[in-house]
Amino acid sequence: MVSREFLQELPKCEHHLHLEGTLEPDLLFPLAKRNGITLPAEFPQSVAELEAKYCQFRDLQDFLDYYYIGTNVLIEEQDFFDLAWAYFQRVHQQGLVHAEVFYDPQSHTTRSIPLERVTRGFQRACERAEKELGITSKLIMCLLRHMEPEHCAETIEQARPFIEQGIIHGLGLDSAEKPFPPELFVECYEKARSINGDLKLTAHAGEEGPARYVSDSLDLLQASRIDHGINSVHDDELMQRLAREQVMLTVCPLSNVKLQVVQRVAQLPLQKLLDSNVPFSLNSDDPAYFGGYILDNYAKVAEEFPQWDHAVWARICRHSIEGSWCDDKRKTELL
Ligand code: ADE
Ligand code: ZN
Repeated sequence: MVSREFLQELPKCEHHLHLEGTLEPDLLFPLAKRNGITLPAEFPQSVAELEAKYCQFRDLQDFLDYYYIGTNVLIEEQDFFDLAWAYFQRVHQQGLVHAEVFYDPQSHTTRSIPLERVTRGFQRACERAEKELGITSKLIMCLLRHMEPEHCAETIEQARPFIEQGIIHGLGLDSAEKPFPPELFVECYEKARSINGDLKLTAHAGEEGPARYVSDSLDLLQASRIDHGINSVHDDELMQRLAREQVMLTVCPLSNVKLQVVQRVAQLPLQKLLDSNVPFSLNSDDPAYFGGYILDNYAKVAEEFPQWDHAVWARICRHSIEGSWCDDKRKTELL
């Protein structure tokens, strides 16, 4: 088995990280206090209670119910900055060199927090991370699939200036998967593409939902990579396509265990992805809730796939850099 020191040194990229999912209990409660937010009675009321709850969720929806309550403590531009800056500092210590990070504007605009404020706070943290830590990053806004597609389209309109300027570099789709298939969002993706043809596209698919949601995300939404995507292994034709077109899956090992998608990391189809030449990266999803950041995810996979040698890890690392949305110059630096 490779050592944690070896994994630490690998130039790691993250492609599946929800900034709201980095809200640690030790920031959540101070922010609630700072902003005068009363958390609902059913929500844990102390760091210890919240940490205990974060240990296990029944499924994706059970997690999301807590997650959306937690985000209510984020109000001021400084809160969004503090959240993202804390994340960058933490992962700098874990050997992260490039991060493509999600946020959910609708979690905030539905509470009358303007999209501009959220985006500016996160953007400032990204700029500081590059300047002071050498971590490059891209912002990806996600549409909440449990919201009406019309609301999603309005959100894209609000984001127009940021999409035009490339400050928002990509579009994604997240939240409860199974009841909300990709076809509901075809017009939204078309609209976003019409604002900036260079906008990168991704979507959560095949986490709890079927392999068909993966192929539909590629065909109907024109996504160029897929978040989670692990249920693709149930469809041979789709697997061949992912390999042929080198569509990267952004796999989240600790998340999949905490949300009971699998019982153990060893049950993830990572060997099958490698054997089928389907590229994937390893990611932390919502690390404050799932018990570990990027290096912790790498280390858990190394522990449960002890037969993987340095060459296998070098291949995973290369796929992760090649599948990134940074420019070729940055890729060459990282390779
Ligand atoms: N939002 C935050 N984490 C998510 C996940 N794992 N799946 C869907 N939506 C999410
Ligand atoms: Zn996710």
